[in-house]
Amino acid sequence: MINIKTKIPGPKSARFLVELKKKNGGYGVPHPLVFSGKGRGVYCEDIDGNRFLDFASQIATNPLGYNHPELLKIVKSLKSFPVKYAGQDFTVREHLKMIDKVLSISKGMKQAFLSNSGAEAVENAIKIAMRKRKEKKFTISFQGAFHGRTLGALSLHHSKPIHRKGYMLEPNKELPFDESAGDKLKDIIKKHGSQSVGLVILEHLQGEGGYRVPERKMVRGVYSICKNNKIPYIADEVQAGMGRTGKWWSFEHYGIRPDVFSAAKALQVGATVSNMFPDEPGALSSTWGGGSVVDMMLGMKTIDIIKKEKLLQKNRKNGKYMMKRLNELEVGNIRGRGLMTAFDLQDSRERDNLVIESAKRGLLVLGAGEKGIRLIPPYVVNKKEIDVGLSVLEKSMKEIRKKGFKHSGKICNFMGCGDGS
Ligand SMILES: Cc1ncc(COP(=O)(O)O)c(C=O)c1O
Repeated sequence: MINIKTKIPGPKSARFLVELKKKNGGYGVPHPLVFSGKGRGVYCEDIDGNRFLDFASQIATNPLGYNHPELLKIVKSLKSFPVKYAGQDFTVREHLKMIDKVLSISKGMKQAFLSNSGAEAVENAIKIAMRKRKEKKFTISFQGAFHGRTLGALSLHHSKPIHRKGYMLEPNKELPFDESAGDKLKDIIKKHGSQSVGLVILEHLQGEGGYRVPERKMVRGVYSICKNNKIPYIADEVQAGMGRTGKWWSFEHYGIRPDVFSAAKALQVGATVSNMFPDEPGALSSTWGGGSVVDMMLGMKTIDIIKKEKLLQKNRKNGKYMMKRLNELEVGNIRGRGLMTAFDLQDSRERDNLVIESAKRGLLVLGAGEKGIRLIPPYVVNKKEIDVGLSVLEKSMKEIRKKGFKHSGKICNFMGCGDGS
């Protein structure tokens, strides 16, 4: 149950956040709470004793929710040090087991490379493709694309301009995120030659850029042009992968098999999966590839639990229910797949207001794109909890749509407070 006992942020959380804001060089717009580690399933608690319903899943990294007993058992079982090994050079059994586990859910794929984050998984996908393309001049990605914050991944980026501003990036061309993408790709090939294209990369359910579901015609068209011209086709599954959309990988909804794909977040480690790795030793490496032993153990167990508890089917079912309930609200452009859904508000100000008002009432949600809200609860969510979440959204919406509505209080020191920032 949601239980909000203090103003949000609570006094203890507010003290930490003030310090963090002063000292954290990457300070952004954090949610106004500090997690205590307590909680169960879709509910989590802050250090002020408030209990929230989490429809943000730690930005899709926490598919099984808080304190899942089987995952907790793994954390408690660790009794030796180090827990992090320099896995590309000094291996533990978990490195091979983790690779095998990833391949067990990646039909037709024979090799994987482990890293520590989504951006690294994408960087390595870029490298794999580039190594093969001797005459490449640029990469190709899509309008709204987000592939991570390292400079290679940022070169593919077409989401918020602030992410790229002032950085020196690799040459890239942008395709529209619609059915005209294939024609645009053909034009590029005609003008520059297919050999100039280093790679094409796509999120098969676009995350940060707005939770947009690509049209089948767009994906199949671009994919077949890539195949015909031997252009490496990369799927970025960092956010939409690991079962969130009701299939292990979101590209599976299109009946295609990419040459390379990247995974991370819910997997707990980064992974780049492909059948075209360079065969020169040293072409790819990473000291802590795969993160720590505990990350790998948790990632493997997560896959086992998703299989055992049939969570792909459950996500499809709950996703449909979520859509049905969303249709009863006064919101626009409802979209998504499985448990990766979103809707739009009138503008970014109204969206930001809704994120804040919902947090004050104990529901954690994230924005997506220009004016969207994403709903990505942990896979363990049930219908009743979906109802609770949507009723908070509904009440929050009523509140923010009152004439002259404006937030006030400490929350405004941390969040945009509806000024559209
Ligand atoms: C599709 C996609 N690719 C890559 C990344 C980067 O992942 P990380 O933040 O773990 O580097 C993200 C992160 O949100 C993402 O959504």
